[in-house]
Amino acid sequence: MKNLNIGIIGFGTVGTGVFKVLQSFGNIHIEKIAVKNINKKRELENFNNDLLTDNAYELVNNPNIDVIIEVAGGINPAFDILKAAIENGKHIITANKELLAKKGNELFAFAREKKVIILYEAAVGGGIPIIMPIKTILCANKIKKIAAILNGTTNYILTKMTEKELSYDTALKQAQDLGYAETDPTGDVEGFDTAYKLAILSTISFNKKVDINKIYREGITKITAHDIKSAKELGYRIKLIAMGQLLDNGKIDVRVHPMLVAKKHLLAKVNNATNSVMLSGYPVGDLIFTGAGAGAEPTASSVIGDLLVLASELENTDNPIPQAVCNHTETAEQIDIGDTYNDYYISVTAGNSPGVIGIIGTICGKNNINISTIMQKGINNDNTAEIVVITETSKESDIQNALKEMLASESIKNINNLLRVMN
Ligand SMILES: NC(=O)c1ccc[n+]([C@@H]2O[C@H](COP(=O)([O-])OP(=O)(O)OC[C@H]3O[C@@H](n4cnc5c(N)ncnc54)[C@H](OP(=O)(O)O)[C@@H]3O)[C@@H](O)[C@H]2O)c1
Repeated sequence: MKNLNIGIIGFGTVGTGVFKVLQSFGNIHIEKIAVKNINKKRELENFNNDLLTDNAYELVNNPNIDVIIEVAGGINPAFDILKAAIENGKHIITANKELLAKKGNELFAFAREKKVIILYEAAVGGGIPIIMPIKTILCANKIKKIAAILNGTTNYILTKMTEKELSYDTALKQAQDLGYAETDPTGDVEGFDTAYKLAILSTISFNKKVDINKIYREGITKITAHDIKSAKELGYRIKLIAMGQLLDNGKIDVRVHPMLVAKKHLLAKVNNATNSVMLSGYPVGDLIFTGAGAGAEPTASSVIGDLLVLASELENTDNPIPQAVCNHTETAEQIDIGDTYNDYYISVTAGNSPGVIGIIGTICGKNNINISTIMQKGINNDNTAEIVVITETSKESDIQNALKEMLASESIKNINNLLRVMN
């Protein structure tokens, strides 16, 4: 396999994982590592600090470096640094899903022009091989559907809320104490991280450019211990699901939101920080890929996998891994959440008056919504009651209209939550 000189930008969780695992690959020579703070103490035995620089341009302008591994994260300055690296003919390996989701079109077009490739197995699902399989061995397929758990932090929080009956705040605190969640957890708990990964995954699955700004996104911050308990009683688990569907009319339905997942469903059994991606395609049928979605070593597995595939190709050709080149010309027509169809879980607080179930039934009926289950859960001290409804498949805009009508009715005091359901 060809000897490669590489530069690594970023030496945090993923960067140090890559560094450690690379020690056993003699053909890969780390020329330089760029960091932000060169004075930070690095917890590595026998580490030669001379490898470090705080100027990433030293790497991208170094003619000896063949490949840049970008594991710093964020848009700035990563975007400008990678553009300069591409300009200088370097191949890129990155784990930066935010950058690819927001600036991928520009970067991939530039890479094509400069005849270098960008590999990014680690950007989606950490250690789970999913990008390269879709681009290579699954390329005979028309992928119709993706349903995935793509964020370990939120899956950990929801698992603890389910298993230990913790509140959202307590489960989040536990995740932070264990290092699964950051001090500012917004990127994870509001679904941004999942949406970046879904933008990448749906673009390569459906072969159309999916716009991150048009992906409907809801996080898990509104999920209460009460919702988890109700879901459990009804035979479901609550999961943050990344969903993508190619519709019969060629349009694309892509969204990130919590869902009630039937407990027999494989995704309901994916717990803690584990990630999982289900794909349905023709002719392959249904596939599921499950594993560690983050962490130094699993993520290093993907980064180094990309690197070694590239090294073996560069030995034979100047045009490595042509299947991995992104050349999507078509832009996806993404439908609005109001036009999607789902089964729904609706929890309302209603006055304890005769006929209230009938009122809910009438409002649903008027809005083309068939109810599959309706149950009243006791009576509260203030003479109100929680009513939970599970609907049959309905149009989201009909559901939203029904909720407005319910709120306008004297009998309904509050809509506690609306969640979509996956059976
Ligand atoms: N953590 C995971 O398990 C995981 C999994 C999949 C993908 N990713 C992605 O991988 C990337 C890195 O994540 P991480 O968790 O390893 O982050 P991290 O632990 O915060 O490390 C970031 C590293 O980037 C360096 N850095 C920041 N700005 C820089 C700059 N301008 N020039 C050079 N270096 C700079 C930092 O330097 P200092 O050390 O000096 O602060 C640090 O070493 C992100 O895009 C993330 O989304 C992470």
